[in-house]
Amino acid sequence: MDLDPYRAFRSLFASKTVRSAWAKSYGEQFWEASEPSQSQATVDDIKFITQRLHPSAETKLADLGCGGGCVGRYFASGFGADVEGIDADPLAIRMAEDLAVTSGAGHRLRFKAGDVSKTGWRGSSFDGAFSMDVLLFVADKRAALHEIARIRSKAWQRFRWHKLGVTRRERSFARTSI
Ligand SMILES: C[S@@+](CC[C@H](N)C(=O)[O-])C[C@H]1O[C@@H](n2cnc3c(N)ncnc32)[C@H](O)[C@@H]1O
Repeated sequence: MDLDPYRAFRSLFASKTVRSAWAKSYGEQFWEASEPSQSQATVDDIKFITQRLHPSAETKLADLGCGGGCVGRYFASGFGADVEGIDADPLAIRMAEDLAVTSGAGHRLRFKAGDVSKTGWRGSSFDGAFSMDVLLFVADKRAALHEIARIRSKAWQRFRWHKLGVTRRERSFARTSI
């Protein structure tokens, strides 16, 4: 019997029992929009990145290590943002593409397989970037952080610093820490 790797991959996430166990263990922090439910994004994580990125119909965001793409779908469907995602796992990318179509926000979402440290995206081409529970798996974290800094728009960074009321000294620290 032939095994379809994509069907096998999807079936891992289809179980209602697993979803309910996941929801129970996360309690109040379970993020209902997580799909597949095994995303480790919590309610507080999502609030945090939403406050930092201010997603809107004017923003273009990068999701580094997007997995099945639930966070990008949330920003695209709920706020009208354009989101591009990249993930090392082609099966996760295929799932992200399938779920984008059924979300109704497929025209705002694009996904591709690849490495977060070498995205192939143009420099300064995104207003903001996020990466949820991915860096722990990346061997060369410095390269990944440099790539994130490279793809983010300088104008948007200045806007964000201004909006956040961040001091010059803190700015310089944040830049060097990237
Ligand atoms: C815990 S999942 C998180 C998925 C998604 N961010 C979410 O919150 O639902 C981690 C993801 O990181 C991806 N990943 C790990 N190392 C990567 C790399 N070097 N480049 C791109 N993706 C990577 C894995 O394939 C996996 O989909």
